[in-house]
Amino acid sequence: MARKPKHPKDSFVNMTELVLPNDTNTLNNLMGGRLMHWMDIVSAIAAQRHSNRIVVTASVDNVSFTHAIQLGNVVTLRAKVTRAFNSSMEVHIEVEAEDIPSGKKFMSNSAFFTFVAVDQTGRPIDVPEVVPETEEEVQLYEGALRRRQLRLVLAKRMKPKDATELKSIFDPQHYLNDE
Ligand SMILES: CC(C)(COP(=O)(O)OP(=O)(O)OC[C@H]1O[C@@H](n2cnc3c(N)ncnc32)[C@H](O)[C@@H]1OP(=O)(O)O)[C@@H](O)C(=O)NCCC(=O)NCCS
Repeated sequence: MARKPKHPKDSFVNMTELVLPNDTNTLNNLMGGRLMHWMDIVSAIAAQRHSNRIVVTASVDNVSFTHAIQLGNVVTLRAKVTRAFNSSMEVHIEVEAEDIPSGKKFMSNSAFFTFVAVDQTGRPIDVPEVVPETEEEVQLYEGALRRRQLRLVLAKRMKPKDATELKSIFDPQHYLNDE
């Protein structure tokens, strides 16, 4: 990671969308797939801003839809890079919905996406380090290593016994037995 470190605010992206008929299901609610498409775009731009590179989506953590977003609502998506490793970056996305006539706003959901910076041939390439500034950014930065290990274990890219950050959550004996 030879390039100059950056702050999360350097990658911040704020994107606003209006829910139109073509974005909705037969109940006139925003389709989950459309929301995930917007989340992918806003987080990819944040990862590009951080790395100044082409990026590809490597993984998407659990996304749950707790509140329906309705036709005519305004959706605001905010994304920023929480931490960078070698070529990969974790991006945190928050989604807020707004019903302008009633003045009501609510947090719809949040998620973590992982992007990998690649060169012109698609090979992973190192990205700058992240230096968190606010208390929230420090918390997201510190949790990012644990989340990275969890997603790499689930993707079978890391052996559970090597996931040192997860040992405080799960029984350490489990890892010793799991090859
Ligand atoms: C993501 C991709 C570039 C990784 O390439 P690779 O040859 O496996 O490279 P590596 O094993 O060296 O891994 C590169 C980085 O990706 C990360 N990575 C790979 N798979 C991952 C996963 N499932 N979740 C999180 N991170 C992952 C690695 O941890 C590594 O991070 P680091 O450099 O910060 O340590 C490659 O798998 C790819 O191009 N995938 C398709 C991407 C795509 O098309 N996305 C859109 C899908 S719709």
